[in-house]
Amino acid sequence: MFEIEAERPEHGPAIEALLDHSFGPGRYAKTAQRLREGNRPVPELCYVAFSGAGEKRRMVGALSFWPVIIGGVPGLMLGPLAVDPELRGKGCGIALMEKGLADAKKLGYRLVILVGDAPYYARVGFGPVPHGRLTMPGPVDPSRLLYRELDIGAFGSAKGAITKPPSQ
Ligand SMILES: CC(C)(COP(=O)(O)OP(=O)(O)OC[C@H]1O[C@@H](n2cnc3c(N)ncnc32)[C@H](O)[C@@H]1OP(=O)(O)O)[C@@H](O)C(=O)NCCC(=O)NCCS
Repeated sequence: MFEIEAERPEHGPAIEALLDHSFGPGRYAKTAQRLREGNRPVPELCYVAFSGAGEKRRMVGALSFWPVIIGGVPGLMLGPLAVDPELRGKGCGIALMEKGLADAKKLGYRLVILVGDAPYYARVGFGPVPHGRLTMPGPVDPSRLLYRELDIGAFGSAKGAITKPPSQ
C-alpha cells in the first residue's frame, strides 16, 4: 500500500507542506527543534512514503533522523514523523520507522531518542527514559522522552545532556 523511498531534493516542498499540516504553527517552537537548528539530518535516513498509482500517486508520509549526542553516546533523534491524515491508521508510520531503525542499525548507530507519545512508539521498541537521566535543551514532558537501543547495552552509559554533535 505504501512505497518508501529515499528523500530527494524535489520532495522538499511536499514534505514541508505535510509537516506544517501535521504539526501546525507550533512546529518550530518544540524543544526537539533546538537539536535540529544548525544540524543536518542523516541523508541516508531521510524517507518519504508514497501511495496511489499514476496521476493519483502522492506523498503521504515523511521521516528523518538527526545526529545527536545522547548523554555522551553518539546516536540519533527520530523525527519529525508525519503521515497524511487521510492515510493514517494504515501502518505507514510504523513502516517508515521500521525501515529507518533497521537502516540506522546497519549504519552502525547504537541508540535513538525521540519526544513523542509513549504508547505509539512502544510499538517499535521505544521505552521511557528514566526520569532525570537525560536532559533536553528546553522543556519537555519527561514521560514523552523515549529511547530505543539498536545495540544492546548502548543506553547503559548515556547520562546527562542531549546535544547536537560538535559542528564539523
Ligand atoms: C503519529 C502518526 C505519524 C501515526 O502515523 P500512522 O501512519 O497513522 O500510524 P500507523 O498506521 O503506523 O499506526 C497506527 C496505530 O497506532 C495508533 N496510534 C497512532 N497515533 C497514536 C498515538 N499518538 N498514541 C497511541 N497510539 C497511536 C493508532 O491508534 C493505530 O492503532 P491500531 O493499529 O491498533 O489501529 C500520524 O498520526 C501523524 O502524522 N500525526 C501527526 C503528527 C505527529 O503527531 N507526529 C508524531 C509526533 S510525536
